[in-house]
Amino acid sequence: MLQKAEAYVRAHAPQVDPTFRPRFHLATPVGWINDPNGFCVFRGRYHVFAQFHPYDSVWGPMHWGHWVSDDLVVWTWLGVALAPDSPYDDMGCFSGTALEDGERLILIYTGVHRDADGRVVQEQCIAESHDGIHFEKWACNPVIGVKDLPPDGAPEDFRDPKLIRTPDGWRVIAANRGEKNGRQLSFVSPDLIHWTCEGVLLEGVGQMPECPDYGPCDGRDLMLTSVMNLPQDGLRFQNGHHDVVYLVGQERDGRLLPERMEAVDLGPDFYAPQRIRTPDGRSVMIAWMDMWQTDSPTHYLGHGWRGQFTIARELSIRDGRLLQRPVRELERLRGEAFEADVQVDGETAVPGLCGRRYDLLLDIAVRPGAWAEVRLLQDGGEYFSVRYDPQTQVLTADRSRCGYTMGPGGGPEVKPAGRAVLEGATDRISLRILVDQCSVEVFAGDGEVALTTLAFPKGPAEGISFAGQCAVHVRKWAL
Ligand code: FRU
Repeated sequence: MLQKAEAYVRAHAPQVDPTFRPRFHLATPVGWINDPNGFCVFRGRYHVFAQFHPYDSVWGPMHWGHWVSDDLVVWTWLGVALAPDSPYDDMGCFSGTALEDGERLILIYTGVHRDADGRVVQEQCIAESHDGIHFEKWACNPVIGVKDLPPDGAPEDFRDPKLIRTPDGWRVIAANRGEKNGRQLSFVSPDLIHWTCEGVLLEGVGQMPECPDYGPCDGRDLMLTSVMNLPQDGLRFQNGHHDVVYLVGQERDGRLLPERMEAVDLGPDFYAPQRIRTPDGRSVMIAWMDMWQTDSPTHYLGHGWRGQFTIARELSIRDGRLLQRPVRELERLRGEAFEADVQVDGETAVPGLCGRRYDLLLDIAVRPGAWAEVRLLQDGGEYFSVRYDPQTQVLTADRSRCGYTMGPGGGPEVKPAGRAVLEGATDRISLRILVDQCSVEVFAGDGEVALTTLAFPKGPAEGISFAGQCAVHVRKWAL
């Protein structure tokens, strides 16, 4: 199955339609990807995998695709690492994580299969590699099974193991639905083979807190989790079906006691982040830049691919809040520079300011009582809007006037915009915006707010203009 998938990728990747292909974001060579998996450092290089379905640009039986990088921005496809070809994972190799352990690279993932009674179950499996390319699944899989669940644990919702090294062995945090609600369970093992459930690390966060990423950051315990059916709460949690949150706090007696829980990114296209510690000590996150329950023009127009990751982002915690900035390595890709001071009074174009792939820094001073807008990916009346209103302190990133929709089959969509309150902001704000063919990542201030949105304009869409009443200092680099 693995060879078949590899051969398919080789034959069909050259045929995907290049129109919307990103230039500095990791994207699937063909078919579909969702969650990042196994983000890690192995022998000094960065590796990341993805939930991968090679044969169509929609979700299907999950393989793991594999990429490597020396700088977190230029990623090279390494092939298919796992295929759903064993009795314990023949319905899919679902999400998981990776760790370097001496000479070997350990992957832990969720194997989905039917049990003897025909029920679909999810159990945790291990594969290892000695060259960082070829992986061998362990004969004793699954290593953490339904038998290890507490009595009320749903066997069909038990997934996304996060592997952690401890002073006396190993720990796994995995999502599981219990009788009352979703939770994350903690398992320990001396040898990666024998596992014991030691209890509930986190509960009471939505129906299913998927894809736990857990570990220290700036002296605190930081959990990133992608939550199904978190009750909507104004602008804090906007999606209703899938929201990514961070919890900052301290673990005590095996329980994470969160002091703060907020959205990681309030745009419509951000899910399933994972993070690593780089050799120079930075905490770096990467996420799926897309979302469940939407459709993509790259699928319904027959382009042959769907799925990409966000830019890798450096994380830090300040006053209990998560800050995120594009990795500094991105600056090495900066090409031609542009700089200008612009007085904006109504729709204002700036001679020489245009592009489809760039890094844009804006320092905006809004006139009293007014608002400010930057229009990206513009073709006449169609554009992507990033708008700030000091009266409400709300920053909006909105693709609803920009080309193809992401509703089913190209129809209307539920959430074409993300909105965030810039707490403490005045009439002066700073934005950093990354645009790459069909995506817009907006970072405000020091990275207190991020809004990630896909957008698929119909034409060349190289326009950049401003609207509202404001003064803007613009710096831009082609990427
Ligand atoms: C999250 C998720 C995971 C699961 C995977 C399946 O996006 O639903 O919980 O392991 O995707 O592809």
